[in-house]
Amino acid sequence: MPARSLRLGVNIDHVATIRNARGGRHPDPVRAAHMAAAAGADGITAHLREDRRHISDSDIERLSNEIQLPLNLEMAATEEMLAIALRHRPHAACIVPESREERTTEGGLDVAGQLERLKPMVGKLTDAGIRVSLFIEADPRQLDAARAVGAPVVEIHTGAYCDHEGEARDAELARIVKAAAHAAAIGLECHAGHGLSYDTVKPIAAIASIAELNIGHFLVGEAIFVGFEGAIRHMRTLMIEARK
Ligand code: PXP
Repeated sequence: MPARSLRLGVNIDHVATIRNARGGRHPDPVRAAHMAAAAGADGITAHLREDRRHISDSDIERLSNEIQLPLNLEMAATEEMLAIALRHRPHAACIVPESREERTTEGGLDVAGQLERLKPMVGKLTDAGIRVSLFIEADPRQLDAARAVGAPVVEIHTGAYCDHEGEARDAELARIVKAAAHAAAIGLECHAGHGLSYDTVKPIAAIASIAELNIGHFLVGEAIFVGFEGAIRHMRTLMIEARK
């Protein structure tokens, strides 16, 4: 089923990266989340990494309590992160790989290789009312595995598409288009993200069955030049243009 509208989830991890470079409180990711809302973001995404290199536990607590937009918590498939997700009950949880054993050679979560491990975790999150997505490569085998573990949503990794140029990028885009169609055919909601910029967003946004893009690093970097709201508004304009 094609998604009619395309949501923008703004990832604020790298606001915290800048804050943590000096310690202290500035710049505050929660303030960035409020600004993203004012600029028209549909959701806020934050990755609580096991090493807490950017987002902290208290950021997640404050985001859960203080923002109005749906929170998408990116997390590794660990018992610690599961407990945190169940405590805060964000709108959504996106399971991402953090260790080498969990990821495919391209970088997405190897769902097919860890069905038994992921199935109960997806079940517990779902039972708590959290919408689960799995961050995977544009690979039909991983999509089928996502469905097999009961995840309603997949997020397709756009990193390789963004990193390549020319024919290699076109080939990656073709893989993503095919994977998005396969996701729709097997009843999965399809999202995409990683590495997207003004230059790379349109062909991904044009894929009608993709319902949400999650974008962070580029927006935080571009905020240096045009401000966070300006960067988000321009990204949103490009997404709308691509859908026309
Ligand atoms: N989606 C997922 C699952 C991610 O882990 C990330 C952050 O790495 C993003 C989207 C956003 O990527 P970027 O910061 O490169 O825009």
